[in-house]
Amino acid sequence: MRRPNERLLTVALVACAAALTITGCRSASGKPGPGSEVMRPDQVTDFATLYGQNCAACHGASGKNGAAIALANPVYLAIAGVANIQRITANGVTGTAMPPFSKAAGGMLTDNQIVILATGMESSWGNPSAVAGQTSPAFASSGPGNSEKGAKEFAISCARCHGIDASGRPASNGVVTGSLIDPAYLAMISDQGLRSIVIAGQTEQGAHDWRSYTSGPIAHPLTDEDVADIVAWLTSHRIATPGQPY
Ligand code: HEC
Ligand code: HEC
Repeated sequence: MRRPNERLLTVALVACAAALTITGCRSASGKPGPGSEVMRPDQVTDFATLYGQNCAACHGASGKNGAAIALANPVYLAIAGVANIQRITANGVTGTAMPPFSKAAGGMLTDNQIVILATGMESSWGNPSAVAGQTSPAFASSGPGNSEKGAKEFAISCARCHGIDASGRPASNGVVTGSLIDPAYLAMISDQGLRSIVIAGQTEQGAHDWRSYTSGPIAHPLTDEDVADIVAWLTSHRIATPGQPY
């Protein structure tokens, strides 16, 4: 035999649940007025809409000229490939402003939407023959790189625009660049982020890629190892407490 107060409590709970259900049903069955249908975020499958809503703010309205690396760059797209782009979009890049977008990683996009973004970039902005017949450095580095060798290669390939110490200062050729060794800059970009820009970056001034840094008698495309070495030298300027006075 239940005690009365216990039964009352049960009834109250059941009534409550029922009331909630009914309210829920009523609002769900309410007919929307014309033009008031809103697509659930999960159901957006249009590449341009997904890109505009989620990526344009950082990577630029049409995939370039944003604060972060240009994605509408056929050379970058050919070297990175759909699988890497999908993985980075899903998981983000720890320690940088690139957020994870997959639901599994706490983001707002479905796996299908991430596939649409990665394949949409390739089909809208890519060109399968962008690096055809050429041996580009691999997207990911195969080793840690040698900082000393990196400083030497930087002097040959990069110093004329970025300054011999990478501080951006000399710029005798009129190109204006920021410092690549500012601890605050290095704190916001990953090693892969630097590597991607060196291999296949696109700046507002044009292509910035492994094939084109040197010309004339010293002309040589950067090898996989050269890029790893340069990144090792740049990142050797990282400090433990960026932002602190030093
Ligand atoms: C809040 C700014 C921000 C937003 C929004 C953002 N990104 Fe990024 N993204 C970045 C930054 C910063 C990096 C460079 C991270 C690093 O240093 O490796 C990056 C890197 C990437 C890379 C790797 C580039 C490389 O170095 O090879 C891909 C691919 C990418 N983003 C795709 C996307 C896509 C797709 C979206 C939209 C779904 C998106 N991003 C939205 C800031 C952003
Ligand atoms: C012909 C001139 C030129 C040469 C050579 C050159 N760069 Fe750049 N680089 C630029 C310009 C212009 C920008 C865009 C302005 C900026 O970000 O400072 C840039 C941007 C960059 C960035 C991105 C900076 C950012 O804002 O995130 C990196 C990293 C970089 N360069 C590294 C290198 C390395 C490493 C080399 C040599 C392998 C190199 N560059 C050679 C002109 C050059």
